[in-house]
Amino acid sequence: MCGIVGYIGSREASPILIEGLQRLEYRGYDSAGIALQNGMGLKIRKRAGRVQELAAHVAANPVQGHMGIAHTRWATHGPPTTNNAHPHMDCTGEIAVVHNGIIENADTLRKLLRDRGHTFLTPTDTEVLSHLIEEAEGASLEERVRNALRLVEGAYGIAVISGEYRDRLVVARQGSPVLLGLGEGETFVASDPTAVVEHTRSVVYLEDGDIAVITPEGYRILDGDGADQDRPTDAIDWDIASIELGGYAHFMQKEIFEQPESLRNTLRGRLMRDEGDARLNGLQLTDEEIRSFDRVLILGCGTSWHSALVGRHFIETLAGLPVDVEYASEFRYQRPLPLKNTLAVAVSQSGETADTLEAMKAARERGARVVGVVNAVGSSIAREAHGGIYLHAGPEVGVASTKAFTSQLAALLLLGLHLGRRRSLTVEQGREVVEAMAALPAMIEQTLKLDDELARIALTFSEASNALYLGRGVSFPVALEGALKLKEVSYAHAEGYPAAELKHGPIALIDDDMPVIVVAPADHIFSKVVSNVQEVRARGGQILVITTEGNRDLSAVADREVAVPATHELLSPLLTVVPLQLLAYHIAVLRGCDVDRPRNLAKSVTVE
Ligand code: F6R
Repeated sequence: MCGIVGYIGSREASPILIEGLQRLEYRGYDSAGIALQNGMGLKIRKRAGRVQELAAHVAANPVQGHMGIAHTRWATHGPPTTNNAHPHMDCTGEIAVVHNGIIENADTLRKLLRDRGHTFLTPTDTEVLSHLIEEAEGASLEERVRNALRLVEGAYGIAVISGEYRDRLVVARQGSPVLLGLGEGETFVASDPTAVVEHTRSVVYLEDGDIAVITPEGYRILDGDGADQDRPTDAIDWDIASIELGGYAHFMQKEIFEQPESLRNTLRGRLMRDEGDARLNGLQLTDEEIRSFDRVLILGCGTSWHSALVGRHFIETLAGLPVDVEYASEFRYQRPLPLKNTLAVAVSQSGETADTLEAMKAARERGARVVGVVNAVGSSIAREAHGGIYLHAGPEVGVASTKAFTSQLAALLLLGLHLGRRRSLTVEQGREVVEAMAALPAMIEQTLKLDDELARIALTFSEASNALYLGRGVSFPVALEGALKLKEVSYAHAEGYPAAELKHGPIALIDDDMPVIVVAPADHIFSKVVSNVQEVRARGGQILVITTEGNRDLSAVADREVAVPATHELLSPLLTVVPLQLLAYHIAVLRGCDVDRPRNLAKSVTVE
């Protein structure tokens, strides 16, 4: 949600900090600020609005300094004003803090500090932190930060500078990501590797409870008792081009078109053609453990929850195991019934979604074995899981998830195959799926050729303020995903329904103007879907059907039809979702919406 950047070295810090914020802006974007230390105390610049506003403000009121911290905010406590933007200072103006996360006992701490004479300029929980550090005892900045954090309940990733300490900045992590970027005579801090990849590929991910002291020469990581901690150095395995537009108008468009490649990357080295199996070494599950499971539970939020719903079909069909799918946010507060012999799968693009992280911890406490299906390498969910499957889809910058969805489906298919082959799936059945999966990237390339046609169809739907998306079986979650994409980026109201449910209520909504988008590939349930569409037809509605090439003529029931290549029936969601992504994208552009930064949304939802 919010983003943190920090720098200490020999270069001017402010351009590095502002560029870093621009890279992080996709995560949250309602205000931004920087604080620099230049040997003559702290200098702060803040602005409500996009990072662009801050950049203009800093250009008009420059600040010099070789170390500093910066933040882009997605408001949780207090409205998105310039005053509430980070960094926040203490009473003396000697301490500046940027913070991601939520301090749960902020009100109690604020009262305590007020009683000791502190005055606050904002209602934010972050300002409380800077005052706490001011109050805290300690012989060094890191010791004061450590003592202050002892009193804090909640989640945080923080970066702190002080007017008193010209040689260091201090960062700490508890539940919200912080990484260090290691350069030559300079060190970076960020909440996300996109902010530092331009400068270095060597990163160190902090663990919960870590406090790090950063200098130009390097870093020292301490635990809550001041004992040194050793953390591995990782290499960022993608390059800067992945987070630049490269000729596309928007990241959402770029990422839709990247899907053949992102899918190839998810599948690379994992398809075992002869054995009809999936190589998933990262899962860390023995064959014996796999045979001991009698249930699978998949957890996720938003688009990742939709992937989980499709994943249920994959795993039930291929591995013969019953699968439950839960919203992570609901599961974490459910009655804690035991989860014996259960494989829990946490699905998350960012790997930082707070609800998913807590749900997986709850599943583990209840006895489940927990694995992750995660895109962001080194993220909290990936590290919290026992093992997992990385998507390798590359960074997803567009706030509306697209390429992560298809890669999540591919990873869940691999999981179904891997579990199935260790249970009752035969080599021949496995090979059939492997062959179909290997053909998918080229089929997505083919499907993307529908772009012009969908841009034309978007023209006829762009004025509508409502839309219905229908599907059955594996296509029902695709309908949900299509509706979510449209809602997020175009602000039109859209709902996804299992096609047969329509007559139990929602059919009352149908009139001549209502766009009805039906996901109906040629599968075993196709003729049933056609009957459902006829029910809509009889009552008006503008019907667009997404079906399979070579399927029967649908002109009698549909106003428009687009066809994706034919594949194994289980795999159709990886193709049918593509036209829905394109449709949502084109409608949003026609409606003049900010496609990559939809209002009120953040890319990574690190608060409950
Ligand atoms: C929708 C979207 C969100 C995310 C959800 C979970 O386009 O991006 O619904 O899918 O916030 O995020 P992750 O997958 O990062 O856990």
